[in-house]
Amino acid sequence: MPPPLHIRTYHELTEADRSGLGEQVGAQHRRVAERLAPVHRVVAVMSGKGGVGKSFVTALLARALARAGRRVGALDADLNGPTLARLLDARGPLAVTAGGVEPVAGTDGVRCVSMAHLLEDGKPLAFKGPGSDAFIWRGALEAAALRELLGDVTWGALDMLLVDLPPGVARLHELLDLLPAPPDVLAVTIATVESADAVRRALNAARERGARLLGVIENMAGPQFPGDAGDTLSREFAIPLLARIPFNPGDAMWQTLGERL
Ligand SMILES: Nc1ncnc2c1ncn2[C@@H]1O[C@H](COP(=O)(O)OP(=O)(O)O)[C@@H](O)[C@H]1O
Ligand SMILES: [Mg+2]
Repeated sequence: MPPPLHIRTYHELTEADRSGLGEQVGAQHRRVAERLAPVHRVVAVMSGKGGVGKSFVTALLARALARAGRRVGALDADLNGPTLARLLDARGPLAVTAGGVEPVAGTDGVRCVSMAHLLEDGKPLAFKGPGSDAFIWRGALEAAALRELLGDVTWGALDMLLVDLPPGVARLHELLDLLPAPPDVLAVTIATVESADAVRRALNAARERGARLLGVIENMAGPQFPGDAGDTLSREFAIPLLARIPFNPGDAMWQTLGERL
């Protein structure tokens, strides 16, 4: 088994390194830009809210696009609840070569990289640091992990790289800090008012940072979740409601969604 990626955090840098931090960050940006140069388009899938189906939508959409002949990558940026690899049946470990980290081929040929490929089964992301600062260091480590993945993975030529984000807006900001240009953004919501509130915050954050909002997807549509969050957000942001996805939709739903992007 290849060695796991070494994740550097600022905490681990020596004093000499710390003083060269600005230079290192610049080098990191160049590395990310080089890795993503053959990637035609980056699409971030976000919601601000957990459990609404971001990973489900990312995986099924990626597969439909791949079946339609597009070269698709899927990056799991939810480092605490990495579920994307399982949904794509992309089994690790990742091959780490001198050239970088190679994605794993998942269902329908979607190229997938997930934190799950780096973690031992079931164990949470480990971090070093004083107990009282645990929260801060976890955040720093997660940001560092995303930086490492974007800097190290050799996606090759892709028509689209889908990035599955965790709840909240922190990782979206980190992604925006790292990418050479803002990604396109797909928002996933369920129909409820609470979900609309969380997704609204995330959409505002994305728009403020210059990301193009592709539209909103209302997931788990049906009597279980009453509301009209999809229509409301579509109207408020003047973006399309791209799909209303019921529980366990068929292939045609994903194909149609893929064609609308
Ligand atoms: N449209 C759907 N039909 C059936 N199951 C779904 C649907 N959307 C989500 N799920 C399931 O609901 C759970 C939560 O979805 P998930 O994609 O993990 O949410 P998130 O990534 O937003 O936290 C998962 O078990 C997922 O498979
Ligand atoms: Mg998820």
